[in-house]
Amino acid sequence: MIFRFNRVVQVATTCLLSSVWSVNAAAAVGRRASICNGHSELCDKSYGNVTFIGAHDSYAVGVNNLAVNQDYDVTQQLTDGVRMLQVQAHNNSGTIQLCHTSCTLYNGGTLEDYLGKVKSWMDSNTNDVVTLLIVNIDNLAATEYDTVFKSAGLDSISYAPSSASLTADSWPTLGSMIDSGKRLVTFLDNTADFTSVPYLIDEFTNIWETAFDVTTSFDCEVNRSKTDTSTSMYLINHFLDKVLLGNPVPDVTNANTTNAVSGTNSLGEQVDTCLTKTGKAPNFILVDFYEYGGGSVFQVAATANGVTYDSTSIATPKSTASGSTGSSGSSSSSSSSNSNSAESSRQHWIAALTIVISIAFGASHAL
Ligand SMILES: *[C@@H]1O[C@H](CO)[C@@H](O)[C@H](O)[C@H]1NC(C)=O
Ligand SMILES: *[C@@H]1O[C@H](CO)[C@@H](O)[C@H](O)[C@H]1NC(C)=O
Ligand SMILES: *[C@@H]1O[C@H](CO)[C@@H](O)[C@H](O)[C@H]1NC(C)=O
Ligand SMILES: *[C@@H]1O[C@H](CO)[C@@H](O)[C@H](O)[C@H]1NC(C)=O
Repeated sequence: MIFRFNRVVQVATTCLLSSVWSVNAAAAVGRRASICNGHSELCDKSYGNVTFIGAHDSYAVGVNNLAVNQDYDVTQQLTDGVRMLQVQAHNNSGTIQLCHTSCTLYNGGTLEDYLGKVKSWMDSNTNDVVTLLIVNIDNLAATEYDTVFKSAGLDSISYAPSSASLTADSWPTLGSMIDSGKRLVTFLDNTADFTSVPYLIDEFTNIWETAFDVTTSFDCEVNRSKTDTSTSMYLINHFLDKVLLGNPVPDVTNANTTNAVSGTNSLGEQVDTCLTKTGKAPNFILVDFYEYGGGSVFQVAATANGVTYDSTSIATPKSTASGSTGSSGSSSSSSSSNSNSAESSRQHWIAALTIVISIAFGASHAL
């Protein structure tokens, strides 16, 4: 009896150990990401120590249209390597829509449809961490965004930090974010509420920004921040505008040199300025017409990240017109009354100029 009892225990123990072992082995082998955002070297790096290329006004897509900043839509942007998506969200009769300045001027569709495209790209690219930056122009509550994220199925893959504000080096590694399945990081420029929706992260207590709507040359001075800029992440607004009739409009004719690896006013030059000034590369780089330069923006990011640049060809420029609209920066002004009147005068101006340019280009459906 004793013998048989021991034997049963022995068999049971062996089974238990082997099943524990195989579960552990599966966890270790199956769930450990070996490529993160295209590079094995990035898996062990903190999210706060990686440089990501971002599309400024990522939803504002078109050709010969004053209200656009990109030639290609969000799916192509992601496919080509863009990993931060900046959008401007408006309350359009109760629906959150991605509009530029106003929904009558440029309506890029609903946030839900846009997030659906992001979701389907992320579902088929499971080893990538993607960041969204929402300019919440109408100060909608975080809970209203939460509803849309849930409808799009993105709440379940959203990363919620351990506290409302993190220093750059407190962020988890890309590998651990990918392993946990929490690979979408979303920042809101205002109304973030860590208690009610912890995955909608306050931008300016986590990230400082350089100036936007730059028409001369790019520096690396702090323009907007609500945090200790020596320890937080930072974003550079690297899109050049030109002044047309007293207003800034994207300078698409110079996009090749603006996006370039080196040269006067290039992205490479601004990153070097920042490295000298802060000792570390920018975390986020927002650009217009990202494909101008033939991938140069991704080359600059690869250098900053210390990885080999993947020179696989990307989409080619479509823009033919020299005029596109003024950008509103990556975020709305903190003073909403000022920003509203500025936005409103800009809206009228852009609308008028758009009509003029549409006629000039014979484009009947420019908007
Ligand atoms: C959004 O717009 C709708 C309709 O115009 C309005 O009733 C609602 O109060 C707005 N929501 C917010 C949070 O401003
Ligand atoms: C920030 O940038 C905006 C747009 O370029 C500019 O109007 C503003 O004066 C800047 N503010 C600071 C504090 O540098
Ligand atoms: C930008 O570069 C591309 C490819 O090098 C070239 O085809 C295009 O004409 C350039 N565009 C401008 C506006 O310089
Ligand atoms: C990451 O850390 C390395 C080493 O300290 C540094 O050279 C690089 O600039 C950092 N990048 C970012 C985006 O913080």
